[in-house]
Formats: sequence, C-alpha cells, structure tokens
Amino acid sequence: MVLSLFGKVCRMLVPKSLRCEYLENPLGLDVLNPRLSWRLENASAGSPSSLQAAYHLIVASSREKLDKLDGDLWDTGKVSSDQMIHVEYQGKLLKARAWCYWKVKVWDEDGRSSNWDDSPVAFWHVGLLHKSDWGTAQWVGGPARESRRMKVQDRTKNYPQEIIASDPSPLLRKKIALPGGIIRVMLYVTALGEYEVRINGKRVGDQYLAPEWTDFGKRVQYQTYDVTALVVPGQNTLGAMLGDGWYLGLLGPGDAIRQRYYGQNRRLLLKLVIETGDGKTTEVMTDRTWKLNENGPITYSDHFMGEMYNGTLEQAGWDMPEFDDSSWVNVIVDDGVNVNLVAQKNEPVRIFETLTPIAITSPRKDTYIFDFGQNLVGWCECLLDGKAGQQYVLRHGEMLEEDGTLHVDNLRLATQTDCYTHDGRGLRSLQPHFTFHGFRYVEVTGFSIKPNLSTLKAHAIRSSAPETGAFECSNVMLNQLWKNILWTQRNNMASIPTDCPQRNERMGWMGDAQVFAQTAIYNMNMAAFFSKFTIDMRDAQGEEGQYTDFAPHPYPAKTAMSFGPGWADCGIIIPWRLFVAYGDTRVLAEHYESMKKYVDLIYDENPDYIWKVWGSNYGDWLNGDTIKNAKGYPKKGGELPKVPYATLFYWLSASLLAKIAGVLDKQADQEKYLRLAKNVQDAFNKKFVKADGKIEGNTQAGYALALGFGILPSALQEKAIKHLLAALKTYGNRISTGFISTIQMMLELSARGHNDLAYKLIESHQFPSWGYSIEQGATTIWERWDGYVKGRGFQDRGMNSFDHYSIGAVGEWMYRVILGINFDESQPGMKHLILAPKPDGSLTWASGHYDSIRGRIAVGWEIKGPQTTYHFDVPPNILATIVLEKKEGAQILENGKPVKENPRIQVLEDAGTFIKMAVKAGTYDFASQKD
Ligand code: BGC
Repeated sequence: MVLSLFGKVCRMLVPKSLRCEYLENPLGLDVLNPRLSWRLENASAGSPSSLQAAYHLIVASSREKLDKLDGDLWDTGKVSSDQMIHVEYQGKLLKARAWCYWKVKVWDEDGRSSNWDDSPVAFWHVGLLHKSDWGTAQWVGGPARESRRMKVQDRTKNYPQEIIASDPSPLLRKKIALPGGIIRVMLYVTALGEYEVRINGKRVGDQYLAPEWTDFGKRVQYQTYDVTALVVPGQNTLGAMLGDGWYLGLLGPGDAIRQRYYGQNRRLLLKLVIETGDGKTTEVMTDRTWKLNENGPITYSDHFMGEMYNGTLEQAGWDMPEFDDSSWVNVIVDDGVNVNLVAQKNEPVRIFETLTPIAITSPRKDTYIFDFGQNLVGWCECLLDGKAGQQYVLRHGEMLEEDGTLHVDNLRLATQTDCYTHDGRGLRSLQPHFTFHGFRYVEVTGFSIKPNLSTLKAHAIRSSAPETGAFECSNVMLNQLWKNILWTQRNNMASIPTDCPQRNERMGWMGDAQVFAQTAIYNMNMAAFFSKFTIDMRDAQGEEGQYTDFAPHPYPAKTAMSFGPGWADCGIIIPWRLFVAYGDTRVLAEHYESMKKYVDLIYDENPDYIWKVWGSNYGDWLNGDTIKNAKGYPKKGGELPKVPYATLFYWLSASLLAKIAGVLDKQADQEKYLRLAKNVQDAFNKKFVKADGKIEGNTQAGYALALGFGILPSALQEKAIKHLLAALKTYGNRISTGFISTIQMMLELSARGHNDLAYKLIESHQFPSWGYSIEQGATTIWERWDGYVKGRGFQDRGMNSFDHYSIGAVGEWMYRVILGINFDESQPGMKHLILAPKPDGSLTWASGHYDSIRGRIAVGWEIKGPQTTYHFDVPPNILATIVLEKKEGAQILENGKPVKENPRIQVLEDAGTFIKMAVKAGTYDFASQKD
C-alpha cells in the first residue's frame, strides 16, 4: 500500500494469475514464442485504477536470476501498452529443457506502478523439441501376440459382434543407480496405447489416459513430469504398465466400430534427465535393457469394455529396486515406430472430484446397486476383502429399470464392466487404470458379506480446464439445470469434446461441440482444450478440404461421416469462438489455410450458392419430429428441410471466414468471402424465404437459425419473428427445435422483444422441456427431450444417452440473458463487454460470475416490488457497456445517486425503456424502477 502526500491511499494495479499459453506454469512446452498473460487487481478497496498503461516483463533462466531482476532471457523494459494477454515471448532462442522464470510489473493510467514483489513468480519449462532431443530413447514393449477374438452382444442388435480381446497389460521395469547431489529430475514420456509410469512404487503424476487422443498417425503427445521428489540417490526403479487406450482399443459408433485402428502394439518411450549440483546431467532412457513381464495383473482393458484385474497375478514390489526380476525377459525394441511427437497443449485428464454413494439397493439376491446421486464419468475405487480367487463384477449404468435393476441397453456394445479377482491377502483398495465409464449407478456382485456406503467411491475425471462460471437464481429448477449443464460438460471432456461418455460412441462429434462451445467457454477456460481440438479437426480434414463430422476421425474423410453441414462447420466456428473469447489470433492464423480450403470446397461443390452437395447431413438433429408418442404434440413440423438448413451453414461459414480474413488483414480474401456470403444470402432469401417472411418448412428451427445467423434482410426480420411465434403456438408454446437451433431460438426470442416467452420455455416443466427431464431426476442433460417418459419408458434403445450436452447449449442463454454477460466480437478477449441482464419470468433474483481471460465479471440482480437492483463488478482493463431496462421516464440511481453524478459512468443513451452507459472497471450498484 502506498500513501500519498496527503495521507490518502494511492491506488495501484497488481498483476495476478500469470499464465503461459493459457496454462499455469506449464511443464514441457514446445512453443518457442509462447504467449504470456496476466490479470490485474487493485491492491486495495476504494476508487480503483481501471486501465493498465504500461508493463515491464522479465524472463530469467533461473529463479535466482529472476529474484535479482536479471532478465537474461528477455527484458522488455517499460512498454507503454494496455496489453495484458498474449504478450509474445521475443527473448533469446529457447532450447529444449530450458527453464524460464518470469514476472511482470504494471503501471496504471496515473503512472503508479506495482512493485516487482507484487508479481507472482511464474515459469514454464521447455520440452523436447526435436527427435534428437530424445537422444537414444527407443520405443519398447512386448512381442506381438496372436489376437484372440471374442463375441460381444450389442444390446440393440439381435446378433453378436466379434471383437479382438484386449491383451494383458505388460509390466516393464528398469533398475537404475542415481548419483548423489540431485537437484532436479524430469521425466519425458509417451506411449502407443496408454501408460502408467511408476518410480520406486509410486505412480508418477496425477494425469490419466495419457498420452490422450490425437490422430496418432499425425501426432502423438508426450507428457513432462517433475519427478524429483520420487527418486533417491542410489538404487531406484522405473516401472511402467501399458494399456490399449484410444490407440488400440475400441472406437466409434454402431456398426462402424473400429479397433486397433492406429496400430497393433503397445509401446513405451521414456527419457529421464537427472541434474546434479555439480552441473552434470545423467540420462536414462527406454532401451533393450528394460525388463518385461508380459502377464501383469491387468488381464484386459478397454475404454468401452472396462478392465479386468487379477490380484493373484500381482508381482509384489515389481516396481521397487529390491524386486528380483531374473525371471523376466528383455523388452522388444521396435525400430519401426515413426511418429511425430508433440507436447500436450491442454490441461491433462485428472480426477477432479471423488463422490461417495448416497444409497445402496439390492434388486436381486447378492446384487447390490450403489447410487452416486450424480451421473458422472470416471471409475470406482473399491475396498474389497475376499478369498484368493473371489471375483467381483462392477457394471456401470446411467439409469435404472422400473424393477430397480441396472439399465444397460443404452450402452450398446460398451459393457463398462470392471472385474476384480481377489488375491485373498486382506482388505484391498482397487481401481482400474486404463478405462472410464459414464454412470450414476454401479451394480456389484461377488460379495460374501453385505457392502456398505464406504465400500465404493467414485472418482470423476475430466480434462482439467479451470472452471470459470457460477450461476444461481430464485428458481431451484434452473439452478439444477445449470448444474446439469456443467456436469455434462465435465463428463464429456476426456481429452476431446465428446457427444456422450457411456455407449460405444464417445466421439468428438463436431455439431455437438460447436453448438455447445459458447456455454463451454462460460463454464470453463476452454482456450487450451479447444486449441488442441482445433488441431485435431485440422488433422482429420480430408485432402479436398472437407472437415469431418467428428475429430479425431479414424475413418477416411472422403467416405464416412464427413462434410456434414452444422458438424463440419465446427472447423470454423470453434476457432472463431476462441478468438472472440480469448483474443486468440494465433489459432486463427495457424488454422487459416485449412478454413479456406473448407469453404472453397463448399463453393466448388455448390457453385449456385445453395448447399445441396454434402457428405452427410444430420439436419437439426433430434428435433421435435423424433419425439415418440407425445400426447397433443404434432408428429411433424419440427424439422427444418435439409437444403435450407445446409445453406444457412454455407452462409455462416463464409461470413465467419470473411471476418477472420479481416482480423488477419487479408483484404483480398475478406472481399472474396464477403462476396461469397452475400451471394449465398441472396440465394437463400430468393429460394427459401417468401415476401411475407415465411421460411421453407415454416419451422421454429428455420426462423431461429435465419434470425440468429443474421441471413434475413432487415425488412423481413419482424415478419420472421411473427412466424416463429406462430410456429411455437402450433406446439402449444413448446419446443420443436433440435440440437442445432434450440439455443438460437432462445437468444432470438430474448433479443427481439419476447423475453417473457424465452423464460416460459426455460422454466417449463411440461414435456418436452429441460424442466421435464429434471422432474424425472436428471442430473445431466439428456440426448433426447423424451429420453425417458413416465408411463412410456425409455426412447430408442440404442441411441438414448443421458449425458449429452447439445441441448444444454441453453447455458449460453442463461449467462447472456439472465446474468447478461455478453462478449463483444469487435473487441475480442473481453477488452470490452456488454452487461445487459434481462430479468423476467418467475425470477426475483439471480447472481453469478464469469472468470474471463482478463478477470472476474460478477453480476447480481434482485427485484423488490417495483424496483430492481443490479450489482456489477468489472475488473481492471475491461471497459463495459451496461444496458438496463427501466420504466419510461424513470431515473436510474447508482449508489443512491443519479448516474450522471458518477464520473466513472458515461450515459450513452437514455431513451424510452432502457438506459445505456459506458463504465470503467469498478463496482456498481444500480436501482431502476421498472413498473
Ligand atoms: C451422436 C450425436 C451426433 C450424431 C450425428 C450421434 O450418434 O451421439 O450427438 O452429433 O450422431 O448426428
């Protein structure tokens, strides 16, 4: 705290939350010019500093140098700039395994600076950059085994299917002698398949399912761990287990199921680097001296099928130095592996919560069902006693049948079953290693004594992108809906954004991802996760330019599940969302040629500007026409015909690409794609829109998308909204929209004077609605509006996920309309935002926040009689426009005084029923008379 001459407290900004490539102190980065970002806070309360005027960054090669303010790698000096995100490192060329420690000092608009000590110390560690950095490390594993085929029953089909049985997980070990005086030990590791590495009996890291899913033919990720705390001078042992994972395991939907798509053999590549106080480094790598035991206790593991663990095959102490491995053989060195190794870019998959069961039931003799009260993704850790050879079987499911038994039909071929054979040596804590399940209920058989609530706990996993949102309001059903949306997001991010996490599917379906992306961005910092997914989409892109319908895409892009309108367009939509939310121009630049190729292909195939030639076309998936046997609900009339549907995406992708070209300063391209967009717009309006504003099909979806995507000329917009209202009325003011159009309908109703109707839809409990599923006990978002209907039972047996986020895209509406937190695409990365909450419906209060890349934006409002009060927190270096509704002629007060009296507020417009104000960072309390 600084005192001025007059004894008043001087305000000053301090930097917080230092991030490098969106990550907190990343280990093993392979970006040579990483982007550095920070947030700003005011050091104490009172009238705050609102803008950063300058910064000074120092990057040092050691902590000691940084402490002495010796920026030997980079010292920017004082830079007059308000930039606080994506400051690109431009210091000395970084070499593999370099350490970079950094700090920042900032100045505010009045020239007051923070102290160097105010800055947290942050760092990043450079990974292995080139093949040569891996030295002589070799890919090792076991000899190829003859594949065993086994029959499995997809419960939705009356014939069994054949798959290859997963092989037992091999155990690999290497005894090493380490010198004294160790300062630091870093481990760089990856696998074909999945790995768990152990040092002296302890698991390395808290990451699961590594190296995670990429198009392995194009890129295999490696991970970096600081394992200094796990080693000792003298004898140490490295151990590793390998599983199938995405590389060898079952992948994909329905009959298109894949297995061993990327390769046949599990392999490990590892390098350990030991630094000692004498300045020397020692290296240990995978090579032919490693020992192998082909028959570890994991006898089977697969993401879809689950894991089998035979405790009687355990080799006690196998990962400890004193273990006698003389009966083990030497590993095989596989010189044939030639992959492109890259560092993992996004947050690892970790356990983020551990849940205990809320109830145990026993629908059949000796069969117990544990209810975790929450649909989740992960696995159970069990506390099991038993005789040697005693078997326990855990089956996982999302729902129960009416008789209380586990509902497993909707898993299709995925058995999600873990089996344990007890070793008879007392109470054991057991959990799987190379699988994950989607479940709320776990059926367990095999007990000889009655289990209790502490027998099982459930570990919930996800790619650990930080959560950034909060929402609460006076309607408990909406609070549950918000929670269900968040859980569904958590449950569908094991390395990639999936459609669902339980049945044999679990693919990175891009229609689902693009429609949910904005909600996802409010709920979590998705920057790193979606940046990695953008590369996945690019890797999957077909040679002609078609984006696929999901990524990674273990099928030929030319023939299968590709180039689907609304799905493939995700290749443009997600990078655009990254730009708007995080100001990320690098992702646009890196992805630009790929996006152009895609839009050019749509044009080449559809030169008359109507999209008729596509690869697949799912349309507005799972719209009202797919609802079964609903009383008083029209059988037809929900589905927007596929050609206008596709053409809307033709327009969206062309116009987004024009904007992107503009951002990247590519003027000729910008003009080209603007022209293309204009031609598509004209063609759409000519072909599908009548003079009275009616759109082909006369569906809720058609009006919602046309208005939401902005394709209609302004003269037709009012007319279109009237038709939308009529189309809602046909359904008794119920939803008939599907995956793609529901969120657009909600946003358009609120933006165009029908906010009350949007609230009615979201607060409704009448089938089909979000509220209906919640009344049925949903703890996650359902794939179908009618996934389960009282009296009728389950929908389609094979396609009925209860953990599917698409219609949860309404979360975006909750943040944008109820809380009123809106991005401004003309000032991306939250440089400016629009705060425009719109209270309505039954709500008497709402509050929440969004942790943007520049800091936390908090909103709260409450209606008390004729008065509505609003509270806003806007962090430093963000400008906000606040728009509030009010009674015509009524005065708005801030902190009890007319707004004009607050010098931090500039009234932009005060007309009719709203007021628009520009505000600087700070805390504001408004009161408005509405009625
Ligand atoms: C998935 C969807 C996906 C769709 C394509 C389904 O099987 O679960 O969420 O988008 O296929 O229509």
